[in-house]
Amino acid sequence: MDILKVQHLSKTYGDGENQVNALKDVSFTLAQGEFAAVVGESGSGKSTLLNCIGALDTPTAGNICMDGKDLFSMKEEQRTIFRRRNIGFVFQSFQLVAELTVEQNILFPILLDYRKPEQSAVNEILEVLGLQERRHHLPSQLSGGQQQRVAIGRALITKPKLILADEPTGNLDSKNSQDVIDLLIKASRHYQQTILMITHNNHLTTSVDRVLRVSDGVLTDLGGKENEKLS
Ligand SMILES: Nc1ncnc2c1ncn2[C@@H]1O[C@H](COP(=O)(O)OP(=O)(O)OP(=O)(O)O)[C@@H](O)[C@H]1O
Ligand SMILES: [Mg+2]
Repeated sequence: MDILKVQHLSKTYGDGENQVNALKDVSFTLAQGEFAAVVGESGSGKSTLLNCIGALDTPTAGNICMDGKDLFSMKEEQRTIFRRRNIGFVFQSFQLVAELTVEQNILFPILLDYRKPEQSAVNEILEVLGLQERRHHLPSQLSGGQQQRVAIGRALITKPKLILADEPTGNLDSKNSQDVIDLLIKASRHYQQTILMITHNNHLTTSVDRVLRVSDGVLTDLGGKENEKLS
């Protein structure tokens, strides 16, 4: 079953001399539980692609359907609620709330949605992340790897169908990077979540199901793990 269907997506910033065609007629689909990596040079359009799919940015043309629903035919308020319930974000810079503890940061999307948190779900996530001992700590009291694990916990708590990760390992050393990738793999296998992850690290792309390359706004599907075009 397709969770994400992107059709003829284009994004243009600015106009006249300042016009940038950041995405040019991009089409692809992702199945439920699929873990795809997005690679490409700096400025090629990777973040623009993720931001459009996550409805943090608005496409100039094309459609993005998630779980059969067209994101940009919804009213803005409806889209915000849909995003909160169906899409989890992980960013390079963690983006945790400094004043909240580990546990409160993980629960944040549930509280935003006026839902009652399930303590058992939080405990399970803290255990998977190896952060039980740190639940009452503040982000400033954690290492970078631990902070990113909290951010992943926050993305997992709503059980989103799609997780979008923009260079989640960009600020981490190789051991912590592999831990973060292993957690994401676990999420895709165990909870059948679909993951789209931007990475500059070719080494990490060997762990994923599919590699998509963006080059000057054009997307090419490089296919599965044994792909030789990558090297
Ligand atoms: N808000 C904006 N206004 C104008 N141009 C923008 C804006 N955001 C991105 N761009 C341009 O769009 C192009 C694609 O940017 P994008 O951030 O998607 O690249 P990227 O592949 O994520 O790069 P990096 O690997 O450096 O993060 C770049 O040329 C960038 O300058
Ligand atoms: Mg980027």
